[in-house]
Amino acid sequence: MAHKFVDGIGDMGKTEDRKLVENLRKELNYHNYCYHVLDDPAINDSDFDHMMSQLINLENCNPDLISPDSPTQRVGAPPADGFQRVEHPKPMLSLANVFNYEELDAWHQRICRLLKRDSFNIVCELKIDGLAVELTYEDGVLVRGATRGDGFYGEDVTTNLRTVKSIPLVLFGIPSGKLYVRGEVYMTKDSFQKLNYEREEKGLSLFANPRNTAAGSLRQLDPSVTALRNLKIHVYSLGHVSGITMPETHWSILEHLGKLGLRISEYNRLCTTFTEVKDFIRYWLGQHNKLNYPTDGVVIKIDSINYQEYLGVVGREPRWAVAYKFPAQQAVTKILDIGINVGRTGSLNPFAVMEPIIVGGATIRMATLHNEEDIQRKDIRVGDWVTVERAGEVIPKIVGPVTSRRTGREQVFKMPKSCPVCDSLVVKIHNESVHRCPNAACPAQLAELLRHFVSKKAMDIDGVGDQWIKAFLEQDLITDLGDIYSITKDKLLELERMGEKLADRILASIEASKNRPLSRIVFGLGIPHIGSEIADLLIDHYPDIDLLRAASKEELEDIPGIGPSISESIWSYFQTESNVKVLNKLKNRGVRLNVRPERFLGKPTPLFGQTFVLTGTLVSMGRDQAQTTISDLGGIISNTVTKKTMYLIVGVNPGSKLDKAKRLGVQVLQEDQFLALIKANGENVD
Ligand code: IVH
Repeated sequence: MAHKFVDGIGDMGKTEDRKLVENLRKELNYHNYCYHVLDDPAINDSDFDHMMSQLINLENCNPDLISPDSPTQRVGAPPADGFQRVEHPKPMLSLANVFNYEELDAWHQRICRLLKRDSFNIVCELKIDGLAVELTYEDGVLVRGATRGDGFYGEDVTTNLRTVKSIPLVLFGIPSGKLYVRGEVYMTKDSFQKLNYEREEKGLSLFANPRNTAAGSLRQLDPSVTALRNLKIHVYSLGHVSGITMPETHWSILEHLGKLGLRISEYNRLCTTFTEVKDFIRYWLGQHNKLNYPTDGVVIKIDSINYQEYLGVVGREPRWAVAYKFPAQQAVTKILDIGINVGRTGSLNPFAVMEPIIVGGATIRMATLHNEEDIQRKDIRVGDWVTVERAGEVIPKIVGPVTSRRTGREQVFKMPKSCPVCDSLVVKIHNESVHRCPNAACPAQLAELLRHFVSKKAMDIDGVGDQWIKAFLEQDLITDLGDIYSITKDKLLELERMGEKLADRILASIEASKNRPLSRIVFGLGIPHIGSEIADLLIDHYPDIDLLRAASKEELEDIPGIGPSISESIWSYFQTESNVKVLNKLKNRGVRLNVRPERFLGKPTPLFGQTFVLTGTLVSMGRDQAQTTISDLGGIISNTVTKKTMYLIVGVNPGSKLDKAKRLGVQVLQEDQFLALIKANGENVD
């Protein structure tokens, strides 16, 4: 959409844009509400994205229309240095716990005595295991979000909470006045597992449970990290309120908050008898583990606000509410053996084989042990009696050994020196906690690796599903990634249930994949730590697989965004003979292993593959522009001058790189010479 403000019409255009912006925001807020608060989307993702990009466009054209409550402004705040302390106008209380029906009955009888009646409404809610926050809305707009802290003072985590999509930035109806609402921010079990899985793949330490992860994610200095953690909220009560009239029962308050667009649990229940309260607890004792978020009890609250005020607070705990805690889901069993599972990237994942035991209604036979360090830290040995726990995690975990039951016959676990499947020597990369089998052709890795290689984001080889991957491996059609390109129609037709048509389709998509962009091939190779973004970055600097292969660890680390673990991972991948063999097979069978076809088609580029280093300040263009220009011509930008450097480009106030270049005999280009060179190579530098 073009927005031109011609004299006289400018104001009208502005008014129109303002209207459009307002309408788009209203629509987007509503659809965000349907998706994240009601879990009931009203439009599809692409329509939503389309509207969002329209709004972004309009705001870019009219920066003065941007306001903090715009749905475009959820992420984008710069990382903070720390968090401000903020006071809760009304202290955030905690709850007294009860652990069985007798204790619950005692609480109920006390309330009956104090209220001098035995019939009153009670609200039951699930107690989510996340962290409590307080949100402040001023005239309907979210102005602050804080952690509970010590109940009186918390930390200002507004920028992080703004990234939580189920927290509305503006309340429906834009109620005037000040409204403090409280709720629990949490992470779903799925998101937790996915995050830990990704961290394990990258050799990073694992988070203990969804609650700690949610807490850590909210106390992140960088809101863009919080945004990736997919946190959610359930609002469960009010804090201080001024200028707004609120209903007089907790249940109606929750309903009212729901109407304002806040996310309220669908499982809350208004009970008119104490039997219903017990039924609610009984039901959730058996069901809570099935929820996709961690819960550790039921919160029982007297419904009438008058009664709540009358009952008051003792210390930090209100008399009018209590938490019925679910029993800890722990049990003790014996470790029979520690096995090793080999993952796609070759990670050797130890797991415990245990005497079967029932914990929280499920039989547990195995538990992941993560890595050697974890096993050593907990001092877990084969033959040990151990405590196993099912908490918020879906996968059971081993808490630790019961050392009093040791007999002396327990055996300390040692990671094998060679891969249990292919016998390759196991490697452990600097700073990683994971041991890996470096052989990409290891059969255990191969099936997973093939799945990844043919996937949409990598080589997108249509028609090769899990069933065929299994068949290829069983029939020895494939012993490494390179063999995909040697499959013939005859061989395919020998497979059970393979027909002519399907064989042709598979062969056609294998053929088509030979011309995929190099970054997708590099991603598809399944090199540990190399996700699709890192692959793009690498290819921007090394537009040919041979250049990437020749890069030293130091050169790789010179690329902004590439750290020691990634550079070491790439480097050791190319040092492994079997991987080089795979690359040779790919090349010999016609897979394109450079970017020339896409980026430099039709352009003679003598600078292709040449390494450039910049020093000092360029007058005619910024560093970013210089780098883009060089890489568009196929050049590679590096930070360090080495013998392989083709040109050192020198701006004003050059650093020590100039001395080094002179020492090594590297060609030095002044800025005007550099401009002449890029002009000669056909790049427009205006
Ligand atoms: S009410 C006085 N309701 O449990 C009322 N708390 O130990 C105080 N929690 O800090 C809180 N779900 O983090 C309430 N539905 C719920 C809750 C809940 C989880 C947490 C909250 C609080 C802790 C109390």
